[in-house]
Amino acid sequence: MRDILRRLEEKREAARRGGGEKRIAQQHEKGKLTARERLDLLFDRGTFEEWDMFVEHRSTDFGMEQQKVPGDGVVTGHGLVGGRRVFAFSQDFTVFGGSLSEAHAEKICKIMDQALRVGAPVVGLNDSGGARIQEGVESLAGYAEVFQRNVLASGVVPQVSVVMGPCAGGAVYSPAMTDFIFMVQDSSYMFVTGPDVVKTVTHETVTHEELGGARTHTTKSGIADFAFANDAEAILQLRRFLDFLPSSNREAPPVRPTDDPADRNESSLDTLVPANPNKPYDVKELIAKVADAGEFFELQPDFAKNIVVGFARFEGHAVGIVANQPMVLAGCLDIDSSRKAARFVRFCDCFNIPIVTFVDVPGFLPGTAQEYGGIIKHGAKLLFAFAEATVPKVTVITRKAYGGAYDVMSSKHLRGDVNYAWPSAEIAVMGPKGAVEIIFRGDLKDAKKIERRAEEYREKFANPFVAGSRGFIDDVIMPHSTRRRLCRSLAMLRGKRLENPWKKHDNIPL
Ligand code: HXC
Repeated sequence: MRDILRRLEEKREAARRGGGEKRIAQQHEKGKLTARERLDLLFDRGTFEEWDMFVEHRSTDFGMEQQKVPGDGVVTGHGLVGGRRVFAFSQDFTVFGGSLSEAHAEKICKIMDQALRVGAPVVGLNDSGGARIQEGVESLAGYAEVFQRNVLASGVVPQVSVVMGPCAGGAVYSPAMTDFIFMVQDSSYMFVTGPDVVKTVTHETVTHEELGGARTHTTKSGIADFAFANDAEAILQLRRFLDFLPSSNREAPPVRPTDDPADRNESSLDTLVPANPNKPYDVKELIAKVADAGEFFELQPDFAKNIVVGFARFEGHAVGIVANQPMVLAGCLDIDSSRKAARFVRFCDCFNIPIVTFVDVPGFLPGTAQEYGGIIKHGAKLLFAFAEATVPKVTVITRKAYGGAYDVMSSKHLRGDVNYAWPSAEIAVMGPKGAVEIIFRGDLKDAKKIERRAEEYREKFANPFVAGSRGFIDDVIMPHSTRRRLCRSLAMLRGKRLENPWKKHDNIPL
């Protein structure tokens, strides 16, 4: 018996060693943690239960039968994060460059299947050279098995990818289909075709970092939701992030009690909106002042900055926040901001997370670039997302709510549950100047007359009371009472039940 136990321990030791000391040292030299070190940081101490430590690849080509490492380049299992069950896989770059073999894929699929059955999130820590080159089509089949599960799990359990090394070729499509992608600065990259192929095909010279590094994907493409400074920071922030999410679509997010009183007044909000309607203010200040303890987990902070999205809590309950940002492009909706917010709204709706929307939007961004880029369909995504969402929706119009953008931004007409306006709200088809220049085109030469007409228009529409008189907003509230009113509305909405008509699935304009 002792021999058997020793053999077990030796096998375990071999699996823990992964690709060996030298490769572990190389991993550390690159500033990266190993697959197991990452999992140690992710899970509450002593809760990680590893599966399939003894799985080996079955390849016999290119001398592979001589090269077997127990675990085959990926560590999988489940444990607790903040006391809640989470499944994870962590690719081990020290074993065949973390490349994905058939057996490696089967390990990932096994935890995904189990996560779906028990209703727990799946976290993927990606650090891989892609398909195991020695295996060929078996490896491709393995990827497709993972992809299929990503799709079936979408909207059932949260899926989060952290890209902590290479992620190239078709391998990018698994993270792409998960709900969120986090990256690590300087050590991770994602692209469909690498710099060498790019050079051959398009004659562009570009580095790995420029083509698909964390900066590129958090500023230019919007593929990644956040870039963290290093592995440890990424995983600690991931733990914080998971705390906002429910375990599955059958549950609500966890409640984290707060000392911040629900009826806290914030008098500085009364002067947040400048008297001059063309002057910007920072909507993030508003979010920080109303959320529990000022905590806000912003996503995609460096992409489409004209809209702000992220998670906060009110009375301990997680909410998704969507807010126009007057500091950037005057808060206009454009292609990127519509896509960014639409995907976020849909995530919240999948996972029972109420949505609070702060509106200050002068309309859609004009221009050929936007029209040729398909703003019609992209803008429709956000409209569609808000309209189909059945989670509690509370909206606060702080200033401009003009035109189609008024409708889009979680208006009453899209089944907004509670729609507030600040006294500074201006709800109209367009701004006064633009409006009179169209309806009084004949008076254009008379500047005084135009100014008088604009004033008339402003008097009539640049306020919340016309919308209020129709019941399109439920109340005009004092800015300082915003937190109190939001908390009260969200509490009222906790029992909300609303269902859309049965359908196989909708056909959101993609
Ligand atoms: C098998 C691989 C591998 C792979 C790396 N290794 N990628 N083994 N299959 N895909 C091995 C290397 O042979 C090496 O083994 C070890 O991992 C570390 O690799 P290095 O090249 O030394 O590391 P580094 O210099 O950091 O470069 C990392 C890398 C490079 C950029 C990822 O290894 C690379 O270009 N690999 C190939 C990438 C690739 O073309 N993959 C297929 C893409 S297509 P030793 O024993 O020397 O330490 C794809 C399709 C997916 O993935 C399709 C899904 C539908």
